[in-house]
Amino acid sequence: MVVLASGTGTLLRSLADAAGDGYPARIVAVGVDRDCDAARSGIETFRVDLADHPDRDAWDAALTAATAAHRPDLIVSAGFMKILGPRFLAEFGGRIINTHPALLPSFPGAHAVPDALAHGVKVTGTTVHLVDSGVDTGPILAQEAVPVLDGDDASTLHERIKTVERRLLIDVIAAVASRGVISDGRKAQIPSE
Ligand code: GRF
Repeated sequence: MVVLASGTGTLLRSLADAAGDGYPARIVAVGVDRDCDAARSGIETFRVDLADHPDRDAWDAALTAATAAHRPDLIVSAGFMKILGPRFLAEFGGRIINTHPALLPSFPGAHAVPDALAHGVKVTGTTVHLVDSGVDTGPILAQEAVPVLDGDDASTLHERIKTVERRLLIDVIAAVASRGVISDGRKAQIPSE
């Protein structure tokens, strides 16, 4: 798999730790779109910044080519903060997994944790889903709930979500790598063992 990331890269790190002996997937490269901690994982990394390209289409083409060069079976968006373009989706559609820090379809987008807090929900969580052309709209593979506690701020809540998110992502990727995904477009299922 190629892992795309833009941030602190804790999901990437936990996935890299898990992807050892006996795990059915391995990371062939990390792709980033900016200077970030995730770019310093020690794993082979390529960087494709939007600012280095004349427009989004050129960036999309460059990211697609840089990713395809590693011939991945699976793409994992683990805290990648850009919307993937049509070229990328045409090349890898159905094989891109994203993790989101809310129970979709509630709170899509880049501010899921503060949005959930501002709404006053008592339970939020994390969703692992296939990527389609919408923002956090693709078929859901797995979800897990996380309680919102009195006194939570966006940072404490996000950390509690990420603890669950890291484990869920590792489990879902293992299942997808060994058993694949059945998707009818709207719904997705990982066949049971
Ligand atoms: C995760 O919560 C992910 O769902 C969101 O950004 C966070 C990435 O965390 N899109 P990290 O950079 O892996 O620590």
